[in-house]
Amino acid sequence: MDSNTSEEAKRYLELAREYGTPLYVYDAHIIREQVQLFRKAFEPLPVRIFYAAKALTNLSVLKLMRHLGLGLDTVSPAEIQMGRMAGFTPEEMLFTPNMVAFEEIREAFDMGITINIENLSNLEKLGRAYGSEAKCFIRISPGFITEKESPERQEWQKRSKFGIPLSQWQEMKQIVHRYGITVVGLHMHASHVVMEPELFRRGAAILFGLASEFPGLCYLDFGGGYNIPGRHDAPETDLSVLGNILRQLYSENREHGLSPEIWFEPGRYLVARAGTLLVTTRIVKEKNGVLMAGTDSGFNHLLRPMLYGAWHDIDNLSHPGGRPVLTDVYGNLCEQDPFATDREIPEIREGDVLALRDAGGYGFMMSSQYNSRYRPAEVMLINGEDYLIRRRETLDDLTRNQIIADIPSGF
Ligand SMILES: Cc1ncc(COP(=O)(O)O)c(C=O)c1O
Repeated sequence: MDSNTSEEAKRYLELAREYGTPLYVYDAHIIREQVQLFRKAFEPLPVRIFYAAKALTNLSVLKLMRHLGLGLDTVSPAEIQMGRMAGFTPEEMLFTPNMVAFEEIREAFDMGITINIENLSNLEKLGRAYGSEAKCFIRISPGFITEKESPERQEWQKRSKFGIPLSQWQEMKQIVHRYGITVVGLHMHASHVVMEPELFRRGAAILFGLASEFPGLCYLDFGGGYNIPGRHDAPETDLSVLGNILRQLYSENREHGLSPEIWFEPGRYLVARAGTLLVTTRIVKEKNGVLMAGTDSGFNHLLRPMLYGAWHDIDNLSHPGGRPVLTDVYGNLCEQDPFATDREIPEIREGDVLALRDAGGYGFMMSSQYNSRYRPAEVMLINGEDYLIRRRETLDDLTRNQIIADIPSGF
């Protein structure tokens, strides 16, 4: 451990003592750093970044994102409301839902929020409701980008529910023309599984190519899905390469009179590295030759390892100099809940505080009350000061909306 990391470890151990564990800690400096890295990669293009609220929707984080000059990408009416509570104006928000009732789209549109349509059904309803007043983005599913991929990946692509496929392009345009809808932007979200520069180039070229078909088009949106560096389960997205691709496409297209604003919706890229889940080891045991550390957490607090097989680095903050030992790290749920299997970690002792890294995105947001365990508290660090931004849940939170049924006597 260098002196910076040991300073950080000391600070995180203090936080674990002060607030208890499990505890989510978010470092605002790292969020700011990620925003700067993202911006820098696409300079000097006219870029607007909309933080994908779903990754981490805590109001203080939303407020920080606005403070850093970002817009907000939302997927539900409640996310829009939370965006409003954090200070975002409708003009600063984007609504990119999937398979939702038209009423949700109407609500957002009436508020003046830019909407993104990803199926013909809602496009038709938008036209019927607003006629030539209607304006929207169209989310395209450029399915071809996985044609050389494995059969599993192709199957995934085929069943991916997102976006309007190019095979429905003409039908989509007919609806647009029938009602006089203005298509202000085209959108593509190539999630991190297909985020490879060559695929990105092909997808981006399609978007630029199609843009000229809409006279009112001002924006191209390249979604989110950008991967963070240093993980073992997926390659890093090299933003500088994507930046080069876009700069090149941009200058080629500008010659033909096309110079849209470029939008992005990163979520995890901005918050994952900033977030650490602190847990305490309660039990260390050996079984069938496997060394196991059981912590006061589980997939009820960090689902990604179970849901995606995602890798999260684990540091033993209490015993960094310990002898490295292959260990399975678990939670305390009533089923298998591994955070890591056969992971080399400095020897873990009961009481040791572990740091599960890169847990800021889709960590707390995918947490649950399973096993009637309380969801963790959340703390944000700004200039070294800690701010409690969500209290740990209590029994009241578990029971708040429950109503004890009056069981009729004699039942
Ligand atoms: C349309 C859209 N935009 C942005 C995001 C954010 O993705 P990420 O957090 O991987 O950047 C998602 C993730 O599901 C998405 O579906």
